[in-house]
Amino acid sequence: MPLARSLSVTSLSGLEEWDEEFDLEDAVLFEIAWEVANKVGGIYTVIQTKARMTSEEWGENYFLVGPYVESNVRTQVELIEPTNPALKRTIDKMNSSGCKVYFGRWLIEGSPYVVLIDVAFTAWSLDRWKSELWELCDIGVPWFDREANDAVLFGFLTAWLLGEYAAQSEEPPHIVAHFHEWLAGLGLVLCRHRKLPVATIFTTHATLLGRYLCAGNVDFYNKIEDFNLDKEAGDRQIYHRYCLERSAAHCAHVFTTVSHITAIEAEHLLMRKPDIITPNGLNVKKFSAMHEFQNLHAQSKNRIQEFIRGHFYGHLDFNLDKCLFLFIAGRYEFSNKGADIFLEALARLNYLLRVNHSDVTVIAFFIMPARTNNFNVETLKGQAVRKQLWDTAQTVKERFGKKLYDSLLVGQLPDISKMLDKDDFTIMKRAIFATQRQCQPPICTHNMLEDSSDPILNCVRRIGLFNSSADRVKIIFHPEFLSSTSPLLPMDYEEFVRGCHLGVFPSYYEPWGYTPAECTVMGIPSISTNLSGFGCFMEEHIADPSAYGIYILDRRHRGVDESCNQLTSFLFQFCKQSRRQRIIQRNRTERLSDLLDWRYLGRYYVAARHMALAKAFPDTYLYEPQDSTSTSGFRYPRPASVPPSPALSRHSSPRHSEAEDNDEDERYDEDLEAEKDRVNIRQPFTLPVKNKSPA
Ligand code: UDP
Ligand code: G6P
Ligand code: GLC
Repeated sequence: MPLARSLSVTSLSGLEEWDEEFDLEDAVLFEIAWEVANKVGGIYTVIQTKARMTSEEWGENYFLVGPYVESNVRTQVELIEPTNPALKRTIDKMNSSGCKVYFGRWLIEGSPYVVLIDVAFTAWSLDRWKSELWELCDIGVPWFDREANDAVLFGFLTAWLLGEYAAQSEEPPHIVAHFHEWLAGLGLVLCRHRKLPVATIFTTHATLLGRYLCAGNVDFYNKIEDFNLDKEAGDRQIYHRYCLERSAAHCAHVFTTVSHITAIEAEHLLMRKPDIITPNGLNVKKFSAMHEFQNLHAQSKNRIQEFIRGHFYGHLDFNLDKCLFLFIAGRYEFSNKGADIFLEALARLNYLLRVNHSDVTVIAFFIMPARTNNFNVETLKGQAVRKQLWDTAQTVKERFGKKLYDSLLVGQLPDISKMLDKDDFTIMKRAIFATQRQCQPPICTHNMLEDSSDPILNCVRRIGLFNSSADRVKIIFHPEFLSSTSPLLPMDYEEFVRGCHLGVFPSYYEPWGYTPAECTVMGIPSISTNLSGFGCFMEEHIADPSAYGIYILDRRHRGVDESCNQLTSFLFQFCKQSRRQRIIQRNRTERLSDLLDWRYLGRYYVAARHMALAKAFPDTYLYEPQDSTSTSGFRYPRPASVPPSPALSRHSSPRHSEAEDNDEDERYDEDLEAEKDRVNIRQPFTLPVKNKSPA
């Protein structure tokens, strides 16, 4: 028997210090997910942001496997010939047997290789594979469930790919296959059933049943131990999906999930406790100058303000400089994502701002994709009117400039009363007339296909926030993900987040929640909850989260109304901050970025792979969890510049009154203050790795 190679994780202070006791040279990593080069939600973000680090570790032996979607491939993937000879033979063989498998480089950081499978092309095999699935494990997939049908095709095709790769390799390979979420899970089950030489990992980013139960009116967290799982899944017509998910979790050598809260859920709903928690990280960009991200905020904010000028044309009766931009974004799960309590809290905030005669105007954006048939005319018209006003101003300015120039050329100071003539006034009056409008600025930027039953629109109708002049809180619902090529709001999501003041994510069901994490690394404060993986993670690692602009709403121990009051209070306090306080808070928020960097959080993925290799190939690999991988709970201390009382900490700002709102040139002071608060993450920083000993 060959000497077992020892796999261990000995240092937690940086990738460069990983234990190099063994090399993975002959091992190959396949990472399989429906969201590879195919954006749906947060799983895409996991795969896309992690790619650089995983490519650095695995080099030429790292392959992402996903579905072939032509529109995505056209914009994100460079198709090439496979570089690995065994993989080339595999793909050729599959393609000559009635499949369509593509190989390329995904054009993202790390440029990983991707194997993309056209599942529709092999749809002729669906019935046969469904029968095989039924024979194998009694899971019957109904014909009308399109997503589950895709999962069956994708599962059989990925298992085929891995089996063929093993057969085509000259030496018996050490394959690690990491499957994400139920849609990819069947491939794992088939690998185990076919006894392929593959170390398997299954990561669930949510449980199907958890998501469905929470979306209904169920007291999920208090009843989690009591559900009759089969019945609940059957009632929701997801029994077959649930079986696919549960079998993948049980067949995996290593089972992981993204947070402790989802681990508890998996233990009760999938009946397997995860071996390792693999929290989600991000690719953190570090700027050389500390205030650079503040400048980006100002630039992006200007662009959002420009959009607002158009959207509210004819009703710009509020001070844009005193306007705060709040937003919620993500897949459209109305109550799971907390859009319901956000709207309710906005209604209460509107009342508070009005009765307190606040001069602040809040504009709340809802960025959640729904079914539409394009932008609505009124919204597009708004931007056209704004552009026309801008063009008119430019024309008049040019005419004015020319007269001024002519007068200076002949050595005379201009006669100001003659600088604008009748034509100029006519042009300007016409432009002003065009800004007249009979209706209120629209709530929704698009024509909704299900307008009358849409939950956001119905809630807006109920609470009566219709963007009227009297309202201090205005609402804009953009039912499509943002894009820099949009004719309406031409910004990508990242630019948009940078320009906002606060992200609001009061989720009831949120295994991780990338959106507040993304806010954090961009230095934008956010509200999350103690029912979200991210919120719990931050609560665990920061002594006074709100001082850092991480507001964590209690949705675990309070009823909906109470949580809503707490949310309203967070929002109202935020509105009371001065500009300078916001700048200081953004500096603090941004300082937490290291905590969310894949350079630190990637170690859990490494540990999961090592553990799987040791379980699948015990003669070759030995997994040795080190003491240093156990929990020792690093915590960011309260910022040194915050007064000790928590009551004061929320918008603590030394030597500063709310009236002082002039930040220019003070930024550099704040940078100094930021430096004082800086915490070095390279000091011992260990996060929990729950290890099971190798099988
Ligand atoms: N997102 C995006 N464009 C948008 C709005 C959101 O790309 O206009 C992304 C966002 O960057 C985040 C993801 O959608 O990475 C949502 O992930 P999250 O984990 O918050 O929730 P999920 O949708 O997976 O439940
Ligand atoms: C950044 C910029 C400042 C700007 C400020 C606006 O800090 O560097 O120049 O004044 O943002 O902050 P606010 O919170 O009002 O958008
Ligand atoms: C799921 C979860 C979300 C998580 C994402 C990535 O879509 O709903 O909370 O952030 O996966 O793990």
